[in-house]
Amino acid sequence: MTSTADGTGLDAVGTDIVGTDDVSLERELDQLLAVERFDPPPDFVSRWYRPADAAAAAADPPAFWAEQARTLLDWDTPFTTVLDDSNPPFYRWFTDGRLNVSANCLDRHVAAGRGDKVAIHWVGEEGERRRVTYSDLLADTQRLANGLKELGVGKGDVVGIFLPMIPEVAVAMLACARIGAVHNVVFGGFAPSAVRERMEVSDAKVLITVDGARRKGRTAPVKEAVDAELGDLKALEHIVVVRSTGIAAPIREGRDVWYHELLERADPVAPPEPLDAEHPLFILYSSGSTAKPKGILHTTGGYLTGATYTHRLVFDLDADSDVYWCSADVGWITGHSYIVYGPLSNGATSVMFEGAPDYPDRDIWWKIIEEFKVTIFYTAPTAIRTCIKWGPQYPGRHDLSSLRLLGTVGEPINPKAWLWYHKVIGGGRCPIVDTWWQTETGAILISPLPGVTSTKPGSATTPLPGIFPALLSEDGQPVTEGTGVLVITKPWPSMLRTLYRDDERYVQTYFSRFGRDVYVVGDAARLDADGYFWIIGRIDDVINVSGHRLSTAEVESAIVSHELVAEAAVVAQSDEQTGQAIVAFVTLTGNQSGDDATIAELREHVATRIGKLARPKRVIWADDLPKTRSGKIMRRLLRDIAEGRELGDVTTLRDPDVVAALAGKVAQAD
Ligand code: WTA
Repeated sequence: MTSTADGTGLDAVGTDIVGTDDVSLERELDQLLAVERFDPPPDFVSRWYRPADAAAAAADPPAFWAEQARTLLDWDTPFTTVLDDSNPPFYRWFTDGRLNVSANCLDRHVAAGRGDKVAIHWVGEEGERRRVTYSDLLADTQRLANGLKELGVGKGDVVGIFLPMIPEVAVAMLACARIGAVHNVVFGGFAPSAVRERMEVSDAKVLITVDGARRKGRTAPVKEAVDAELGDLKALEHIVVVRSTGIAAPIREGRDVWYHELLERADPVAPPEPLDAEHPLFILYSSGSTAKPKGILHTTGGYLTGATYTHRLVFDLDADSDVYWCSADVGWITGHSYIVYGPLSNGATSVMFEGAPDYPDRDIWWKIIEEFKVTIFYTAPTAIRTCIKWGPQYPGRHDLSSLRLLGTVGEPINPKAWLWYHKVIGGGRCPIVDTWWQTETGAILISPLPGVTSTKPGSATTPLPGIFPALLSEDGQPVTEGTGVLVITKPWPSMLRTLYRDDERYVQTYFSRFGRDVYVVGDAARLDADGYFWIIGRIDDVINVSGHRLSTAEVESAIVSHELVAEAAVVAQSDEQTGQAIVAFVTLTGNQSGDDATIAELREHVATRIGKLARPKRVIWADDLPKTRSGKIMRRLLRDIAEGRELGDVTTLRDPDVVAALAGKVAQAD
């Protein structure tokens, strides 16, 4: 560890308001805040990084990626074309090659004699354990692949997946990949109406779901709720139901089928279908700047190249000895790339945990790490901040000495949370990889490499080989030091290919601002004098709550669908725990005034429309909302009001009195 304590940038990201009860720890962390740069531990030697790779990637990016695709994956038909960039931004990679993702994740490991190796150590909420080997996964995947075919699912058909964190979710995804069906996973925390929307817009033919889902000792009747919302969807022909909790689940004869019955009667052999490299692998809906979620589409060869390459390199994976755990949910891109596809393609052993981090007690994560001797742990800053709030006594109960590498993802990490993670969880010895990426990018793009990159708490540091980020000023000029809009200037294999059935929105959202060959990320960032990237946050109307993306428009439309509401505007407010929190300014019909019961009702209403994660933390009653003369709500001002800041420019407002009234009201309430 070296100290060049000039403090540069340490307070650039987030706020350092996280406190701990432990006075000596607090003092130590405060001292560490003065350390600007942490050099890699001298005994940590990267297994996969070669300086020559970076040089090769810089000299000829497509050739570099072709080399990764060839060495990391098995191809049924080798590709000869690497990158087709004849029609930007519709890039195509490895176009004439054919491969199957499930064969790369399963068959090749079993064929190499590693069938008995544990793929997933599953830990259930009530303490159950399941050891799922590569052979087990392959057997179930083949049967489900045949089962799906029996239900009429063919190549290119969309299959919805709405499952909790159980091994069947991996089987479901891999079975789709095996036959060329396109999966559309919906995060288990979303409400059934959000599932309905995602199934409807993608014309899902089959939905794979569960009888019930457990959360902190309670079981929610998922199938019943799904039926109530999705029963009449025209395109949806069948629902496959995993029996997970044993809670009663209505089964409609002819439409619904139990997962275990489907597997029992299915032929055990389903050869993997060789698919074009550009065959769609999955759609994952993510929030954008309108209420309509974006169906981000990833394809086969490029995506798997990216997930496999980055998982091995960034996590310094030794598939023979590491036990890897990513605590994300499989319903997010992090789960797709770093619970399912990356780890399985690399033949890793992972932990999968069904439950909540505080059930049965707040030490459950650390208990699992001790029991399975987890070596690599990947989580979100919001989770770390929650653990800080709970206190170091919980990790302190367990032996965490197996850990050798830590990672974070999803939002900027404030330096103090980084230091706590480093010190309390990593024992001061584990490098931390702060990985920046997005649903759209498919795989990590900016991250330290353990054993190679010196880290600065709060910075995602530098791009991976083959990735070319840059900062541009508002008018498109390159920024070499300072803040700007983050863009990626060259295509990479795991990038999204389009928005499902909406090429126009794809071009418009990502490739219209600075030309058709410059990918606009949607984040602002700062570049320091060492060329390190510091992600500041979103520049669009996307709110990042605990690392989950939500659009202001999506939440607003849920609120205004309540009969009492006339108008609503939603903004983000910085939050100690969740990074950002949702604040809703609400005008009720007939200028009624709301009370606490109305707030509770609105929050509940949003939970049933989108999911609990979208509930506003604060509801502020507004007689009127600040609007421009053309009628646009000025969210910037609302943010200033919510955060108690001095108000910015109000000259473009139709009625400047509105903001003053609101600001006065909020100040009083606080
Ligand atoms: C944010 C999650 C700072 C960013 C993989 C991005 C981050 C959005 C980081 C994507 C990080 C993700 N540091 N910000 N390490 N990682 N973000 O699509 O704003 O759910 O645009 O993908 O999360 O969120 P998404």
